[in-house]
Amino acid sequence: MLVEKNVPLQPYNTFHIVAKAFSLVRVTGVDVLDQVLADPELAAEPRFILGGGSNIVLTGDVRPLVLKVEVMGRRVLQETDKGTVIEVGAGENWHELVAWTLDQGYPGLENLAMIPGTVGASPVQNIGAYGLELQDRFHSLDATDLVTGARYTLDAAQCGFGYRDSVFKHPAPDAASAALGADGAPVTGFGLRDRVVITHVRLFLPKPWKPVLGYADLERKMIETGITAPDARQIFDWVCAIRSAKLPNPAVLGNAGSFFKNPQVTREQCDDIIQREPRIVHYPLDNGAVKLAAGWLIDACGWKGKSVGNAAVYERQALVLVNRGDATGGEVMTLARAIQTSVYERFGIQLEPEPVVV
Ligand code: EPU
Repeated sequence: MLVEKNVPLQPYNTFHIVAKAFSLVRVTGVDVLDQVLADPELAAEPRFILGGGSNIVLTGDVRPLVLKVEVMGRRVLQETDKGTVIEVGAGENWHELVAWTLDQGYPGLENLAMIPGTVGASPVQNIGAYGLELQDRFHSLDATDLVTGARYTLDAAQCGFGYRDSVFKHPAPDAASAALGADGAPVTGFGLRDRVVITHVRLFLPKPWKPVLGYADLERKMIETGITAPDARQIFDWVCAIRSAKLPNPAVLGNAGSFFKNPQVTREQCDDIIQREPRIVHYPLDNGAVKLAAGWLIDACGWKGKSVGNAAVYERQALVLVNRGDATGGEVMTLARAIQTSVYERFGIQLEPEPVVV
C-alpha cells in the first residue's frame, strides 16, 4: 500500500478547484482497505472517501486521509428471464458503464447517460435524470466498514434511498458508535458517511426492457423526430444530446451538475406561490407534495451568468454553478449563499445544496 503525500486534487474534482490531499491512498481492492485498517497510524486517522469528485466542493486542503476508490471491473453476474444482474467495481466511470451495458445488449440505464462520476458514487446521491433514478435499477452493493473492517452487502432498503439522498450522505452520529445491527449489517436510518467504502455495485436490468419516456425533454424529442417507439440506443442518444445542450461538460468548464436540490413544498404553499408567481415550474408528486424547479426559481431571480470571483451561474441552466477558471471553493459557496438568500427573500423557499461541501 502506497501513501501518497501532498497530492493535487484539481484533477480529481469536476469543479477543478485547486486543493491538495495531505495523504492519499488508492483503493484498488478490498485488500488495500485491510492494509489501511491494519496500519496503526492510518487506522486512527479520519478519512475522506473520494469517488469521481463530481459532487463535491473543496473549500480547502483535505486533512483527513483521502481514500480514492479505484476498484475496477464489470461483469454480467446473473441472467434470467426476469432480468440481468451486472456487477461493477466502484471506481468504474458511470457513463462508460451505461455505454458498455448497451453495447452488450443489456438496456435499462440509457436515461442515466452522461452523468459524471463513478459507479461507487451513484448510490451515494441516488443519481437520477429523465425520469429514472439509480434506485430503480439497483440490486445491492458491497461495502467495507472503516471502523470494524467488516464487509457486508446492502440492499436498497438498507441504503435508505431518497431524492438525491441515501445513508451514505449522512454522517454517523458518532463514528465509533455501533451503527451495525446484530447481524453485522448497518441499521437503516443511521448515517454511514465516511464510515464505509462502497467497493462494488450490482444493478438489475429488468426484462422485457421498457422505455422510460415521461420526461418533458424526451417527449419533445419524440415530437420533433416523429419517432414514437424509440429503442434504448435512441433514448441514449437523445439524453446525450439534451444534456450536451443544457449542461456544461466538466472536462471543459468545471462544475458539479445541479448545485441545489429541487425543493418540495406542500400543495398549500405551492398554491400560495402560484398566486404571486403564476409561471412557476412545478410538478405534483404522488405523496401529495409538489416539487418546484430550483433552476426556474434561481433564473427568475436573475442569476443566470452572474458571478462571484471566478464562480458563476451557468448561462444555459441556472441550477448549475461553474468554475470560470481558478475559482476557489469559498467563491463557489459565497455565490451559493447569495443565491439561497435571494430565492428565500423572493419565494420564502430555502434551497438545499446537492454536493457535499468538504
Ligand atoms: N428552468 C428554468 N431556468 C433554468 C433552469 C431550468 O426556467 O435556468 C426550468 C426548465 O425550463 C424546466 C424546469 O426548470 O421547465 C426543469 O429544468 P430541467 O428539465 O433542466 O431539470 P432540473 O429540474 O433543473 C433535474 C436534475 C438534473 C437532471 C434533470 C433531468 C435535480 C437537482 N436536477 O434538473 O440532475 O439531469 O432534472 O432529469 O434534480 C444533477 O443532479 O446534477 C443533474 C444535472
